[in-house]
Amino acid sequence: MNPRRILVTAALPYANGQIHIGHLLEYIQSDIWVRFQRMRGHETYFVCADDTHGTAVMLRAEKEGISTTQLINRVWQEHKTDFDRFLVSFDHYHSTDSEENRSLCQQIYLSLREAGLIAQREIEQFYDPVKEMFLPDRFIKGECPKCKAKDQYGDACEVCGATYSPTDLKNPYSAVSGATPIRKVSQHYFFKLSDPRCAHFLYDWTQVRTPLQAEARNKMKEWLGNDALTAQEKLSDWDISRDAPYFGFEIPDAPGKYFYVWLDAPIGYLASFKKLCELRGLDFQEWVKPDSVTEMVHFIGKDILYFHTLFWPATLQFSGYRTPTNVFAHGFLTVNGEKMSKSRGTFITAASYLDAGLNPEWLRYYFAARLNASMEDLDLSLDDFVARVNSDLVGKYLNIASRSANFLVKRFAGKVDEAALNHPLITQLRQAAEELAAHYEAREYSRALRWVMELADAVNAYVDTHKPWELAKDSAQAQALHATCSVALEAFRLLTLYLKPVLPSLALGAETFLSIAPLTWADVSCPLRAIHPILAYQHLMRRLEAAHITDLLVRNGATMPSELGAVSKAAVQSVVNEMAVTTKDGIEAIGAPISIDEFAKIDLRIAKIVDCQYVAGSEKLLQLTLDVGEQTTRNVFSGIRSAYTPEQLIGKHTVLVANLAPRKMKFGVSQGMVLSASGQSDAGGIYVLEVDAGAQPGMRVR
Ligand code: MSP
Ligand code: ZN
Repeated sequence: MNPRRILVTAALPYANGQIHIGHLLEYIQSDIWVRFQRMRGHETYFVCADDTHGTAVMLRAEKEGISTTQLINRVWQEHKTDFDRFLVSFDHYHSTDSEENRSLCQQIYLSLREAGLIAQREIEQFYDPVKEMFLPDRFIKGECPKCKAKDQYGDACEVCGATYSPTDLKNPYSAVSGATPIRKVSQHYFFKLSDPRCAHFLYDWTQVRTPLQAEARNKMKEWLGNDALTAQEKLSDWDISRDAPYFGFEIPDAPGKYFYVWLDAPIGYLASFKKLCELRGLDFQEWVKPDSVTEMVHFIGKDILYFHTLFWPATLQFSGYRTPTNVFAHGFLTVNGEKMSKSRGTFITAASYLDAGLNPEWLRYYFAARLNASMEDLDLSLDDFVARVNSDLVGKYLNIASRSANFLVKRFAGKVDEAALNHPLITQLRQAAEELAAHYEAREYSRALRWVMELADAVNAYVDTHKPWELAKDSAQAQALHATCSVALEAFRLLTLYLKPVLPSLALGAETFLSIAPLTWADVSCPLRAIHPILAYQHLMRRLEAAHITDLLVRNGATMPSELGAVSKAAVQSVVNEMAVTTKDGIEAIGAPISIDEFAKIDLRIAKIVDCQYVAGSEKLLQLTLDVGEQTTRNVFSGIRSAYTPEQLIGKHTVLVANLAPRKMKFGVSQGMVLSASGQSDAGGIYVLEVDAGAQPGMRVR
């Protein structure tokens, strides 16, 4: 087999936020593929970089009071650390704000211009007159034109789901300064995608030449139509310039105009690889020239398909570069069946996962066990996560080694019985190698792992049948014991090989105790040898506990720890610590925590104020008659006279503490307490709680 030469990229994460487990789905998926290719002996390079340019990064740095360079350096460090800790094996991790990228962008742009594919024209856009900048859609807010919801973004309404353009918003305002945006004209640069050459090329590239996923190809067909001529009508030119102030690279011969971030970001793939070539003495041209025999594949999420299957191949094609061999798009991650959410604590950052003490290989395994080559979304069900990791990795795979290794060490000096390894079980395991490889190649990881676990089941059944722990009791059975443990360990070696792309660190632990060199795919047919005695087995992986999950959710801001099931002490403590944070001036500190059971003892009810009177002889009190849904009304005295007249209160719905012990006062018995808000003294006013329309007297508040 001729070794292939493969350049692999994963999408460049934005430099204005932390890596979260949604991102990790992609980096883990691509890393598994890369590690697999390396094990197959192919010359494989894996590059990525931070995507640093654009308005968001510029404004974020300004808000933090630091320079863009300081911001992107800090975030680069954080991202790099996260990727290292999740065992994502980039050969190089670069930045789009680099010299390599600047010169490639300029050179590619000039080639496109040379080819007659750059146009200039004026467009009208929203402009913030206070901040003196043009506003990207995401920075314009206003009322939804359809449902009138306030504070909606310029592209879509989060309330009714309508999509529109920022010019459709009612009462638009700038999210940067709050000013009312004005319309302003400016000169922009365009990549002429509607040029017949581009349309023909893109139709051919997406529909004929490239083995895209069926879903991706169909999406492209929707965008391009049924033939190249239709594509020409459907494609519009792509706006590749932005006006100053903008964080990015200035366009040659166009002072004050910058490349739009989506032009320079994919070029960042090449820039990162170029830097790697410099570091390793590789020939960059060999890989990027139009007739290159090397492969270039991009792993991306389905949300950025358009950029990678239209703009990017066209950019490369018409600037004299090779085009991608393929683009592999994956779906989005959901957690417990829903979009990741900050309030549920399921917007889980990579750093919080590691800080909570969870093993990165648990997540790698779970993602792999669920991943296939489609663009379908993938759900991380947290209960399933715990169950699957424990049952597959600890219960099935590691169980094989833990039940057989130490007999071999203690009774046979760690030496396997080579003759015993001819066993049909071993043959069965070896025969799986090529088909498993085909699954990895096709990114059908879930199929591969399902099969590996079936093989592990077969090995465990073999151990259960031969019962080494019983054979060990009878010295006449020494040979059978030797054979059984040797077969089990050779099987364990093969399973380790098959799992290694997913679990590189666990595989290293296994290789160490088996005293073998790093496993490659060719080692399928290189069994354990007696001349390399194995070492004693030490536990290679802990179990995943439910408490880990609770801790994780709490760290990510889950707001209802009591609903999380088994709450770990550490998790509770961290919430308690956060609750003790001091509040703003004039506002009382938050009280000591209570349990949900303690809270449940307080019976709060909706009360309608049916009557209200002054109390003769009291400066402070009003006498309320309340309907709480009972047979008779209740009488309650409330110290709110300084803030309300009876007329203001009659007819209102409020909240009553209904099971407060009745209290005998000078003016009569008070049967409960009405809730109202005030500062540390009453000087700041008293505010009776009011209830949304629809709540009926007597309803419980919880
Ligand atoms: N900066 C661009 C990519 C430029 S590539 C030249 C970008 N960055 S991102 O940080 O938003 O996303 C990086 C990758 O992570 C994208 O491929 C995106 O699809 C993926 N994901 C981000 N959130 C995700 C999930 N919740 N689930 C799965 N993938 C997710 O896009
Ligand atoms: Zn709406």
